[in-house]
Amino acid sequence: MKEKLEKIRLEALGQLEAADADIEQIKIKYLGKKGELTAVLRGMGALSAEERPIVGQLANEVRAAIEAAIAEKAKEAQAKALEQKLKAEKLDVTMPGTPAPVGHIHPLTQVQRELEDIFIGMGFSIVEGPEVELDYYNFQALNIPENHPARDTQDTFYIGENVLLRSQTSPVQVRTMEHQKPPIRIISPGRVYRSDALDATHSPLVHQQEGLDVDKGSTMGDLKGTLEIFAKKLFGESTRIRFRPHHFPFTEPSAEVDVSCFVCGGKGCRLCKGEGWIEILGAGMVHPFVLSNCGIDPEEYSGFAFGLGIERITMTKYGIDDIRLFYENDERFLEQF
Ligand code: DAH
Repeated sequence: MKEKLEKIRLEALGQLEAADADIEQIKIKYLGKKGELTAVLRGMGALSAEERPIVGQLANEVRAAIEAAIAEKAKEAQAKALEQKLKAEKLDVTMPGTPAPVGHIHPLTQVQRELEDIFIGMGFSIVEGPEVELDYYNFQALNIPENHPARDTQDTFYIGENVLLRSQTSPVQVRTMEHQKPPIRIISPGRVYRSDALDATHSPLVHQQEGLDVDKGSTMGDLKGTLEIFAKKLFGESTRIRFRPHHFPFTEPSAEVDVSCFVCGGKGCRLCKGEGWIEILGAGMVHPFVLSNCGIDPEEYSGFAFGLGIERITMTKYGIDDIRLFYENDERFLEQF
């Protein structure tokens, strides 16, 4: 019986040494209910009283040895499995990643920033004004009294009798002159509102940029020079500008300003509709009434002002024929800028 036990020990341990040993199978084969070791133990009843404890002890030793070897083998297998898993799931940090789609600046903002750069380069600084504005700043102080016909073309959204969404950036002129002494040289970009239905050329919300220069001896020549530099910087060095007489209540004299078409150079083409010129802004010399409203003596100071539509400039510059494209956020449109 002792030999039998030794044989079982040798065999079992030998089998467990094999690299691909099947632990469960070995457990069943030797230690299971119908296992070889169990069979030996069952036969112990036939032994003599002296032999029984000796064989019993040996049997226990063999069982303990096999169990220990099985535990050891299981631990090894677990470690190996973990190692393989780590190897298989290893991260290669040098692999190029999946790029996350990154957006870019909206064409209107791009043009607005371009305008800001150009005017900052000429000594203007940027100021902002409220979009919810008082009737006084949006109209009255700008020489547009109640019932003035200019109000019809700038019909906007009213919040109260005297509170409205500004229809132009011109009120920022008044707000600036009220608390700043000349020399003043500012631009003011921002949103403005009109009660227009949305179509290819109208939107209830558009962007404007105001400009204002007040100083001793500021002249129409200064206005022309400033706008000419601006037009050349924005549309190209060969661009010319043209002043056409116009009327704005807050400037005198007033003008509409055109640039020579940068596509055809002035010969006439599809962009300028055969005109050779494209209207880009309104301008003029600040009306004495406006200056005195703000506590600036028109005998001592003069100034020029201009206002442009950022949508219009952007549409002209890029040949965009529908204003709605700016607000729909269709990537196929936005990606082109
Ligand atoms: N505020 C005018 C508009 O919205 C544009 C304008 C014209 C602004 C002449 C000016 C200016 O400062 O001098 O139609």
